[in-house]
Amino acid sequence: MPVTILIGAQWGDEGKGRFVDWFAKSADIVARYSGGDNAGHTVAVGDTVYKMHLVPSGVLHANVVAVMGNGMVINALNLVKEIDHLRGMGVTITPDNLLVSSRAHLITPAHIAQDKAREQQRGAGAIGTTLRGIGPAYFDKTARKGLRVGEMLNLTTFEDALRRALAEANEQLARDGFEQVEIEENVARYLEAAQQLQPFIRDTSIYLHERLQAGARVVSEGAQGTLLDIDHGSYPFVTSSSPTVGGSLTGLGIGVTHIERVLGVAKAFSTRVGGGPMPTEQNNAIGDRLRGSGENFWDEFGTTTGRPRRCGWLDAVMLRYAAAINGFTELALTKLDVLSGFEELKIAVAYELDGVRMAYPPSTAEAQARAVPIYETLAGWTENISNARQASELPENALKYIGRVAELCGVPIRMVSVGPERSQLVTL
Ligand code: IMP
Repeated sequence: MPVTILIGAQWGDEGKGRFVDWFAKSADIVARYSGGDNAGHTVAVGDTVYKMHLVPSGVLHANVVAVMGNGMVINALNLVKEIDHLRGMGVTITPDNLLVSSRAHLITPAHIAQDKAREQQRGAGAIGTTLRGIGPAYFDKTARKGLRVGEMLNLTTFEDALRRALAEANEQLARDGFEQVEIEENVARYLEAAQQLQPFIRDTSIYLHERLQAGARVVSEGAQGTLLDIDHGSYPFVTSSSPTVGGSLTGLGIGVTHIERVLGVAKAFSTRVGGGPMPTEQNNAIGDRLRGSGENFWDEFGTTTGRPRRCGWLDAVMLRYAAAINGFTELALTKLDVLSGFEELKIAVAYELDGVRMAYPPSTAEAQARAVPIYETLAGWTENISNARQASELPENALKYIGRVAELCGVPIRMVSVGPERSQLVTL
């Protein structure tokens, strides 16, 4: 069974990109299944840092075909920009190694305006979205009035449909007292983007089916994370798609029988961007230390929005939940090196809520916000571990930390990253 699915086990930003990159070495296809340019995947190769928002990171490998699946929502203008940017960095991108699903939905400038308007309307209850139009695009998809990528293949009908969609959104924006989006210039820009993207558009589900039949190995690349899932996250402080295992299958149009591994990627501590509960958040010097100064690209500031991430101790309650929801066969732990030098490390092993001890998070955001973490304290290590490449090169306390996390969520940890560069990886 040739499909490996990579899933963020926390609130996104777990460092999935570098594991996609790792698995891509022995894959034929890397396929992304959900979200849009709200994501930011960073891969460091030597001194070169690639930041991708839409294009699957597999495109960095010469023999890999990158697929953008039907579950995605795609801003056509930003996709064109990203392709141009990557080409400018020397990455080869052609219709032979990048395929875009004709069934994926398009993000229009109206969706971005609506995203901003809705966040303003929410006031103090704002979700803290990335303002990329993600929610409104998925809203139109489920309302069965969205524009799909495949519509760009016929410029005449696409122009009409886009014009209509923008005009309809403008009516609502005007009713709500928000600025309307410009139509003529946006239509012209989208038509130009459509012409550039046409060669990349395919029925990617059938492509994947045929390649799988022929024995291709596929890595399914998740975006965001389990705790931002529209069903399983802390609703309404979630994204509008399913970054979890089910989303991978519907977002690519492949069958469950192809799956061999489901790899959860988790940071060795917790981070979250935007609003919503985060029980182990450390709004103090510990959080600041985990975040880093912002001088390095791996510090905890959003790749897409630049916002400082909220940081805290590892939450094994959430991780255990993510393992349950996704059926992880294994876990990869990232940024273990950031924990070096802490005298003591804490892990939330359970919550207490209204006098009851809980092994799994409660299902409402309100209750999650009131849950009090019950911590276990582990001894830290002082050694610099960034040069470790095998388990024997990790300090005993680091191995104990890894072992305890695995035990607490019932999933073996197979890989640990100890620095931002591609090679800074320990396999266990
Ligand atoms: P949206 O996906 O832009 O609608 O944002 C909804 C929530 O998901 C907000 O809290 C965002 O900060 C969060 N979010 C969306 N994409 C990412 C991501 O790639 N990493 C981390 N958080 C994300």
